[in-house]
Amino acid sequence: MLTRIEQALAHHFAHLEGPHTPPRLLAAMRHAVFPGGARIRPQLCLAVAGACGDDDPVLAEAAAVAIELLHCASLVHDDMPCFDDADARRGQPAVHKVFGEPLALLAGDGLIVMAFEVLARAAQVHPQRLGAMVGAIGRGVGAQEGIVGGQAWECEPRVDLGRYQRAKTGALFVASTCGGAIAAGASPAPWQRLGECLGEAYQVADDIRDVMGDAAQLGKPVGQDAQHGRPSAAAELGLVGALHYFRQLMQQAVDAVPECTSRIAMRQLVLRESERLVPQVACDKVMQGHAPLPQVVLS
Ligand code: IPE
Ligand code: IPE
Ligand code: MG
Ligand code: MG
Repeated sequence: MLTRIEQALAHHFAHLEGPHTPPRLLAAMRHAVFPGGARIRPQLCLAVAGACGDDDPVLAEAAAVAIELLHCASLVHDDMPCFDDADARRGQPAVHKVFGEPLALLAGDGLIVMAFEVLARAAQVHPQRLGAMVGAIGRGVGAQEGIVGGQAWECEPRVDLGRYQRAKTGALFVASTCGGAIAAGASPAPWQRLGECLGEAYQVADDIRDVMGDAAQLGKPVGQDAQHGRPSAAAELGLVGALHYFRQLMQQAVDAVPECTSRIAMRQLVLRESERLVPQVACDKVMQGHAPLPQVVLS
């Protein structure tokens, strides 16, 4: 599946090649996308499309690509000095460090626009699916409940942790599950909750890793949330509380996988993510002297 995602990304980037695109802008956009991170959102999107029959693989790949481009754009902007002022991302210098702030801003903008161009280009076989797709993906990144809104809560005097995390991270996971279903002509409704639980869990894990993770291993700086006074699950619940909450959300994600032919495989995927994000050995260190954490199970 990862090869399919990399090939689809490369295919859509080929459309930007040529004398009309400013070379440094294109280089900055490529730097933001390649090499990738976990590519978890496009994997989720394709897994759901597969579970729903994947009758239009071109559209499913476009949805996966669009979602990853929007995610990469959010990271470029998030690392800029006016946000988290982070020097490294995915083990390499952040885009603004290599290309400067103006091109980092424009590379993020360029990726956002590219995402919607990718969808438009791929909707030739089933144009009737495009409206729902743009709506679902737009909600994942928009000002109300998407990434833009989520990041903007950092500029408000008061913020509800759950609302902040669901918007800045959860919403694009919902777009990933729902976008996969829409690409295959299925109803997105049964897939909404999986995206919600997984997405919120993902940000809780990111908060935990920001406290107890290793910068070299994560490929990005740690200690950022405390440094910038960001609302975080670790700060609000304590590490032990955050670990409990993470396990609870991951269990809810496992349970939220709807009836489908690949239900077992999808639930195992969620289980593997739980261990990849916050390994048991890391939990054991924190939980010394506390009651053990509940395990995530395929009940
Ligand atoms: C990082 O996302 C930012 C969050 C929303 C937590 P990922 O952890 O998915 O980053 P990559 O794509 O693997 O680098
Ligand atoms: C999530 O927030 C990032 C976006 C929604 C762009 P963080 O600021 O916590 O993510 P990292 O730790 O920089 O990846
Ligand atoms: Mg941030
Ligand atoms: Mg950040």
